Amino acid sequence: MSDLSDSAKLLIDGKTIDLNVYTGVEGERSIDVTSLFKDHGLTTYDPSLGNTAICRSSITYIDGERGVLRYRGIPIEQFDRPKPNYIEVAWALIFGRLPDDEELSQFREMLTRHELLHEGLSNQFMALPVDAPPMAILSAMISMMACYHKEFLLLEDEKSLMGAAARLISKIRTIAAFTHRRAMGLPFIYPDPSLRYCANFLHMMFSLPYKQFDVSEEMEDALNLVFILHADHEQNCSASAVRVVCSAQANLFASCSAGVNALWGPLHGGANVKVMEMLEAIYRGGYRPEDCIAAAKDKNDSFRLYGFGHRVYRNYDPRAKILKTACDRLFKTLKRNDPLLDIARKLEELALKDPYFVDRKLYPNVDFYSGILLRAMGIPTDMFTVMFAIGRLPGWIAQWKEQHFAEGGKIIRPRQLYVGNPKTDYIEMEKR
Ligand code: CMC
Repeated sequence: MSDLSDSAKLLIDGKTIDLNVYTGVEGERSIDVTSLFKDHGLTTYDPSLGNTAICRSSITYIDGERGVLRYRGIPIEQFDRPKPNYIEVAWALIFGRLPDDEELSQFREMLTRHELLHEGLSNQFMALPVDAPPMAILSAMISMMACYHKEFLLLEDEKSLMGAAARLISKIRTIAAFTHRRAMGLPFIYPDPSLRYCANFLHMMFSLPYKQFDVSEEMEDALNLVFILHADHEQNCSASAVRVVCSAQANLFASCSAGVNALWGPLHGGANVKVMEMLEAIYRGGYRPEDCIAAAKDKNDSFRLYGFGHRVYRNYDPRAKILKTACDRLFKTLKRNDPLLDIARKLEELALKDPYFVDRKLYPNVDFYSGILLRAMGIPTDMFTVMFAIGRLPGWIAQWKEQHFAEGGKIIRPRQLYVGNPKTDYIEMEKR
């Protein structure tokens, strides 16, 4: 609960305007400007919404200064358990608390029941170009689910939301694996109901008709952890896209498809592909780590050190910290190494002692080390952002649910500061 705790005064045109101040449970304060336009004709100017709380939310908490991330109040580090469980986290994000044994089993059973695609949806999938970008395929397929699951277009209670959520979370994995198989010219491998979520995904990705892929426990745990660390991140770009679309009372499929499209961008989830391309280019000898650092600092060069920096964190992203340790752990267990991990460590070392990065408080974010873990599992680089999307889906569903069921929820419709022509007359073509 956030409380009305205080008031602020805005002095403008010789008038004093009183504004309410709310305080969140962790003490963060927010000035309520909702009546400024209605009562005084004033808007607030915040171009990329870096300073605007667009909703009240009880899903995820971030303290960017201290590098804290919590899902439903639970510190993210506590999910890095000997047996990380992504489905448990998905349930907690969507339904507000950790599930009990029966709730988790029921949800798992639903995921198993709905893992296949509707045959019509499969046919449409087959009509998409085989070499289409996987994120374009994913967004189209999620959007098309609205054609085959019309019973979920209107979600007015928790039970039907659970049905829609289970279908989405289950089928996104099948869509992703089929996308990879088709791109590789390999036959589809159907889901195996005896396998858990992550093992089943790896089976669909890598089994052969005559040979079941041996999913090691270490790989299964690492994938669970990767999905958990991507599962939600409060009002990030894709979650906000989901909320904006939802606020027009659009359905869950349309909203999540918008989330996929936003995530695709290289400043957001697409950064994991850029990081891998950068590490591979260094490995092949195209650049030295020092060259990347120099290019990232050069204001005349559009290159950024991908996997570094964050709108909210002014400290080490706690997800990156966990992923870095997970890389070390996995390679130790597998008794192998990846030279790209050494390159990433070198880049991090250089950046963290460079005044450019230090002064701007730019640290590794979730995308810096995630690709190295995914690569260790055999996931190709062009599927990295799809992997992020699979992980993030429960977060989008939770954000959609909160937005959809919010009391007095209104359409999200920002204002602007108009800087175009003043009133100008139309000029006939022959006079222009
Ligand atoms: N490399 C070089 N300079 C950077 C970087 C970077 N990765 N990130 C920020 N800066 C600089 C930026 O040029 C600016 O410098 P100046 O003050 O001199 O103009 C300053 O740091 C502040 O950056 P900003 O772009 O105003 O910060 P933002 O909050 O708008 O952007 C960001 C955040 C994540 C888009 C940005 O840090 C970035 O582009 N990082 C690289 C892409 C990336 O890794 N994205 C993944 C983000 S985390 C996971 C996710 O959301 O999907």
